[in-house]
Amino acid sequence: MAIFLDTGNISEIKKYHRMGILRGVTTNPTILLNEGVIGGMKGVKTRTIEIAKLIDPYPLSVEVTTNDKGKMLSQALDIAGWARNIVVKITIHGPKGELDNLEVVHELETHHDIRINVTAMMSAQQCFLAAMAGASYVSLLGGRVNNMGYNVVGEIKILRQLLDEHKLKAQIILASTREVLNVLEWLQAGAHIVTVVPKFLEGMIVHPYSKETVQMFLDDAQKSELGQTRASETKVVLAEKNSVKETTFVSGRKAK
Ligand code: G3P
Repeated sequence: MAIFLDTGNISEIKKYHRMGILRGVTTNPTILLNEGVIGGMKGVKTRTIEIAKLIDPYPLSVEVTTNDKGKMLSQALDIAGWARNIVVKITIHGPKGELDNLEVVHELETHHDIRINVTAMMSAQQCFLAAMAGASYVSLLGGRVNNMGYNVVGEIKILRQLLDEHKLKAQIILASTREVLNVLEWLQAGAHIVTVVPKFLEGMIVHPYSKETVQMFLDDAQKSELGQTRASETKVVLAEKNSVKETTFVSGRKAK
């Protein structure tokens, strides 16, 4: 059971990685473009190497940017060579339903020993076949499934049961988080990993009542400090007033 971060933002990755929360990062061309990564594969390579180094040995998923069979294969081989912890992302099929992709996945996993994350999937049946093809990770886009009007939790349960029953190595990644609640709900349903948008991780940690409680602790700690100062001042004043010789105590015993 693990949390990945679904982002290409370096400072967000650093922030949550320092906390020890992350076990991986996932990206896609849209995420990288939104983070200002331009210049095609050259830009992707620079950002990828930076993130991969930051989170090593945890995995970083990086997607191919073509749906041509030969180019997918050569791009995947190239991307996998950028860092030792890279997982190559390949979509379940092409934009028109082209069926070359699982063949590429199978070849990369079995003949080239490259870890593949099959993505853009909306159902347990797609994920199951990607797992059969040999994928190390199968990405189910939970938020997009829910937006279509059915609950992805049912798909997660079916998929996890099938993967376990058939002893398939694929790990289920739930992506496309839409609210804080998705994270634990999807993990509890059987996802091995949920890849979370950074703002939802903050939402999981910060609670308004925790804020209020922490403020109470801090205020009372300060009051106690002020109280102590006042007490010792009073003691000195009283001692001077009554001309009483102060007795020094060391570790609770009277000093000679
Ligand atoms: O990698 C897939 C995931 O990031 C998609 O998320 O928010 O575009 O549905 P979203």
